[in-house]
Amino acid sequence: MRLSIFPTPKAALRPAKLDDAAELSTIHSEGGFSGSWSAGEFESLLADRAVITEIACHSRSPAKLFGFVMSRIAADEAEILTIAVRRTNRGYGYGRRLLDTHLPRLAASGVKMLYLEVEEDNKPAIILYENTGFIVAGIRKAYYRKPDGRLANAIIMKRELANL
Ligand SMILES: CC(C)(COP(=O)(O)OP(=O)(O)OC[C@H]1O[C@@H](n2cnc3c(N)ncnc32)[C@H](O)[C@@H]1OP(=O)(O)O)[C@@H](O)C(=O)NCCC(=O)NCCS
Repeated sequence: MRLSIFPTPKAALRPAKLDDAAELSTIHSEGGFSGSWSAGEFESLLADRAVITEIACHSRSPAKLFGFVMSRIAADEAEILTIAVRRTNRGYGYGRRLLDTHLPRLAASGVKMLYLEVEEDNKPAIILYENTGFIVAGIRKAYYRKPDGRLANAIIMKRELANL
């Protein structure tokens, strides 16, 4: 947890709405991902009934978003499509709170196993996933191309949800 002289902004968790699409695209673009997703792409994802999205927002201004996590369900499995916290809001526990809300919601929708892929150098994300019960399920060699052109492995992680 980050130590700061500034008070941590109070966050509330809520499901996403269609008109969050533009903000989700902005936060995603700060995530350091190789491809950015447009507001239109987020609108399509938010309209997809198999896609479940949690939002962390300011407790008194629900339109002010700190971060989000989005997963797609297929039968009794799901995959985290993306998770991102706005750069200035990282290290305050929002990523953890997003997953602590998201995992039980997926379990309640019948998901028994949740998967994700993470770049092997992405230490903050890997720590977050390990602390929320994910374990390594495999490696995809040379899966990501970094901005400098180097290739990086993807770690596949999984988390059983049947016991939630
Ligand atoms: C990964 C990400 C979502 C984490 O969100 P966050 O709100 O900063 O995470 P939290 O503050 O909840 O921290 C979760 C845990 O990770 C640890 N952590 C977070 N950032 C860290 C860092 N830079 N270095 C070391 N540990 C870190 C925290 O200490 C915390 O551990 P704890 O539960 O033992 O206290 C955020 O860094 C992000 O948006 N990154 C860019 C997008 C991205 O990489 N997404 C993942 C793609 S697979």
